[in-house]
Amino acid sequence: MSVGWIEAPIARVHAWADGLISVVFDHRLDDFEAGQFVNLGVDVDGRRTKRAYSLASAPGEDAEFFVVRVDDGVLTTRLFERAVGDTVLLLPRAAGFFTLRWVPDAEVLWMVGTGTGLAPFLSMLRAGEVFERFGHVVLVHGVRQAAHLAYQHEIMAHAEAHPGRLSYVPVVSREVAPGALRGRVTTAFDDGRLEQAAGRPLNAETGHVMMCGNPAMLDDLQALLEARRGMRVNRRKTPGHITVERYW
Ligand SMILES: Cc1cc2nc3c(=O)[nH]c(=O)nc-3n(C[C@H](O)[C@H](O)[C@H](O)COP(=O)(O)OP(=O)(O)OC[C@H]3O[C@@H](n4cnc5c(N)ncnc54)[C@H](O)[C@@H]3O)c2cc1C
Ligand SMILES: NC(=O)c1ccc[n+]([C@@H]2O[C@H](COP(=O)([O-])OP(=O)(O)OC[C@H]3O[C@@H](n4cnc5c(N)ncnc54)[C@H](OP(=O)(O)O)[C@@H]3O)[C@@H](O)[C@H]2O)c1
Repeated sequence: MSVGWIEAPIARVHAWADGLISVVFDHRLDDFEAGQFVNLGVDVDGRRTKRAYSLASAPGEDAEFFVVRVDDGVLTTRLFERAVGDTVLLLPRAAGFFTLRWVPDAEVLWMVGTGTGLAPFLSMLRAGEVFERFGHVVLVHGVRQAAHLAYQHEIMAHAEAHPGRLSYVPVVSREVAPGALRGRVTTAFDDGRLEQAAGRPLNAETGHVMMCGNPAMLDDLQALLEARRGMRVNRRKTPGHITVERYW
């Protein structure tokens, strides 16, 4: 095996919907910051393919990932064939800058994820630092179908544990879902429903937006926030209001 890779045993798999799972490994990861990713690998015809996956677990917990099966995808189609007790190649060296360390202080932290782009925010909620750094946290999860609104019970439990500090706004684009906004997160922002559901305005004076997932959503939402709210991308040398993690 190449340097650093381990064979991590699968401890649990939870299927949220067809093609959408959470995988927990019997392998604890300590040395990372919430929001970072590690690589999983598969060997195909003697060649190793690796892909990045955000850790959904907090540091010190068994490594957990939230994964969608991409049609004909090299890694995900093989990962979905594995079961509890099987092993998966894991490179436990975490990386990435999508962490609170690089986010300037703000009154409100907006966490916007589409699909499995929820994963880094779960890690942040589980690690708890968000509630020390920000007065209020808004978690927006945009998905195609209601069944893809994973981890709802856990998110509600975080909200109950931090009364009045966490707003959860589910957004479903391809069906009507009770308790969720209808459409895309961009549309819901554009027509004011997102801020109404969150119970507060989204602006450069009070907010910082972390967003993760579908690259088209990231581009569209960034353009809207720049044009409508004068927000700009956060860079190390020029602090701003938008921090982005692209999945593909
Ligand atoms: C920093 C980072 C963190 C990531 N974290 C996660 C995560 O937590 N969960 C997760 O499921 N994925 C995550 N991804 C995506 C992941 O790395 C793979 O790209 C994805 O699982 C597809 O791998 P594959 O080998 O099955 O498909 P590939 O053989 O790589 O081919 C699939 C093609 O589909 C596109 N694609 C990749 N991901 C998606 C997607 N979700 N939906 C539609 N098209 C896609 C790519 O453009 C690619 O060309 C992350 C990516 C990055 C860069
Ligand atoms: N059964 C399976 O194997 C299975 C199951 C689920 C997903 N998949 C595959 O996995 C991949 C990812 O699917 P996914 O549903 O997790 O993620 P996704 O396609 O990124 O969709 C997640 C959410 O992002 C929205 N979105 C897309 N483009 C946007 C934009 N420009 N602005 C704002 N919002 C935007 C979608 O809205 P819209 O609905 O309007 O696009 C949807 O609400 C797809 O290739 C899919 O085919 C496979």
